[in-house]
Amino acid sequence: MNDKLRAVYWELDQLHLLDQRLLPNKHQIMVLKTATQVAQAIKDMVVRGAPAIGITAAYGVVLAAKAAYKNDPNNSVAIIQSDIETLAKARPTAVNLVWALQRMQAKITSNSIAILLEEAQAIQQEDIDANHQMGDLGAAVLPENCRVLTHCNAGALATGGYGTALGVIRSAYAAGKISQVYADETRPWLQGTRLTAWELLQDNIPVTLLADSAAANLMKQQRIDWIIVGADRITANGDVANKIGTYSLAVLARQHNIKFMVVAPTSTIDMNLTSGDQIIIEQRPSEEILTKNNLKGAKAWNPSFDVTPANLVDVIVTEKGVIKPNAISSFRKN
Ligand code: MRU
Repeated sequence: MNDKLRAVYWELDQLHLLDQRLLPNKHQIMVLKTATQVAQAIKDMVVRGAPAIGITAAYGVVLAAKAAYKNDPNNSVAIIQSDIETLAKARPTAVNLVWALQRMQAKITSNSIAILLEEAQAIQQEDIDANHQMGDLGAAVLPENCRVLTHCNAGALATGGYGTALGVIRSAYAAGKISQVYADETRPWLQGTRLTAWELLQDNIPVTLLADSAAANLMKQQRIDWIIVGADRITANGDVANKIGTYSLAVLARQHNIKFMVVAPTSTIDMNLTSGDQIIIEQRPSEEILTKNNLKGAKAWNPSFDVTPANLVDVIVTEKGVIKPNAISSFRKN
């Protein structure tokens, strides 16, 4: 129920990606044939969102293995390894990418296409299952008639399916607990407008869009109860990297006495980093900002993510339970 969209899928022995650069105007599927194409598609944001990037890269390893076993079976393990390194570099901030590649790496033998495909499909299915669990857990935390604000797109399009932050919103809406969903535009790439609003409308969930800079005023007018966002990486101390603008929402939420929820599977937790200061923040091309106004001569600063300190987060919802950010350290180091 309420889970029709798939950003990534394996069908007829081929990897298919819904091209998110073209949404909502065009529904175009790309079929990818090589691991290099997969790495480029992740870099170019054909597919985006932390869990979806990891799942796509996992299928990229299947493509790498197919090519290696066919073209140079004696060197297949080294060739696949080199493709894994290329995939790992596609985008730096979301830890799910490296997490999924590590899982795939553990399954490589001298002839393991079927095993690798099974593992990639398991990664995707486990993600969908985790999202449904988080949906239920997060929805249970929300009060009746809840008015929520979300940022970026942490929905089916950003995951294996159903979504993290949007999974909670879907489940809570189905339970009759949501009276209003607001979505930030999410500049400069407009994930909120092009993806989140569109995705919610596919499920007939009413949504109100606002410019990112309008969120402060909306909070001041006491028109939001909970802010619900996803995450790209959560460090051992509970700091959260997510789409640029998340930190300002968390600061504003504290100022206006509004609750702040982060929804992320345990694959987004990086116990190897002790704090958010150590997270590599991706810088996106200046053109994403400058070409909008055809401005020549100016420079642009375009970080794709920011870090929200743990003390501004009220709860983190994972598939294993709802916890306070300072309890992240109870998760095992991987
Ligand atoms: O640059 P993007 O679109 O990949 O950024 C996505 C986000 O910041 C999401 O909120 C995050 O990956 C969580 S997706 C479930």
